[in-house]
Amino acid sequence: MKAVDSVLDLIGNTPLVKLDKLSGDGAADIFVKCEYFNPSGSLKDRIALEMIREAETEGKLGPGYTIIEASTGNTGTSLSFVGTLLGYRVVIYMPEGMTPERIRLMESYGAEVHELKGEGASGSGGVAGAEVEIGTRMACYEIERSQPKTWWARQFSNPANTRAHLTTGREVLEQMDGRVDAFVASIGTGGTLYGIAKVLKEELPDVRIVGAEPAGGRFPLSEGHWRVPGFGDEVTGGIIEEMMESGLIDEVVAVDNDDAAAMHERLVREEGIFCGVSSGANVHLALQVADELGPGKRVATILHDSGDRYFTVKKYTT
Ligand SMILES: Cc1ncc(COP(=O)(O)O)c(C=O)c1O
Repeated sequence: MKAVDSVLDLIGNTPLVKLDKLSGDGAADIFVKCEYFNPSGSLKDRIALEMIREAETEGKLGPGYTIIEASTGNTGTSLSFVGTLLGYRVVIYMPEGMTPERIRLMESYGAEVHELKGEGASGSGGVAGAEVEIGTRMACYEIERSQPKTWWARQFSNPANTRAHLTTGREVLEQMDGRVDAFVASIGTGGTLYGIAKVLKEELPDVRIVGAEPAGGRFPLSEGHWRVPGFGDEVTGGIIEEMMESGLIDEVVAVDNDDAAAMHERLVREEGIFCGVSSGANVHLALQVADELGPGKRVATILHDSGDRYFTVKKYTT
């Protein structure tokens, strides 16, 4: 690899690895895309750069602005990394109770982090995989309206999020020589699954697209809950709704936290892959799909982030 001019040029083009020990006999092969190779340790670097560049081009973001976002971890870290590097002040709103490692990561890159406490922070409703972020998104909405020179990245509804993952999808297709029978990914904002699904289904109409969500959510996508009453589009956003109504997603499956955590541990110990807990959920589900498809088929999935942000908790949240 040749020298690059900026660390931002290292975003994307992540490696894809075939699982060696975890793939079962008599099952399809499983390939994992190691997104923790992105500079700040997660695939959210891709969307942070795309959302910021687009906002600059559209004149919504410029010198002297503050970037704000509601995040439980990865998007906040990526916006802190990319935003600070490009000269912006970055302020992240988190619900109380996230791991201290995640706050330290954001602060290390230069962001100001505010933990919102109490009922308002967790909100009284939400979409599966993102329930805890409704309150912090409402805070961003109010701040953007009341404070000049503030830009809210809006990862849950910003089309630049999904667009960034068209590139991820093209990478998967190329790395797998165009031979993908199924693709599996956890859903938070929906940007990863939707962006990659768009590219794969266009090239391979028979590919099976499977979403994963944490079991026990109040509004499970797997049970058809993707319209959330009581909150405006500004807050709940549209990626999940658009994705679920696009016809591109074949199914969404709830994955239990214990299964995700156990698979995460196996990935680290048996494959030497130091990913986060949602990656464990993805691989747990990918193994089920691989069993169903059988030998000779190929399942791809995503390892969203690095394991270093889950030392103090092993919980599957997106
Ligand atoms: C660790 C982790 N896994 C999965 C996801 C889901 O990705 P997306 O928001 O693109 O649906 C996210 C993002 O929220 C995440 O941070």
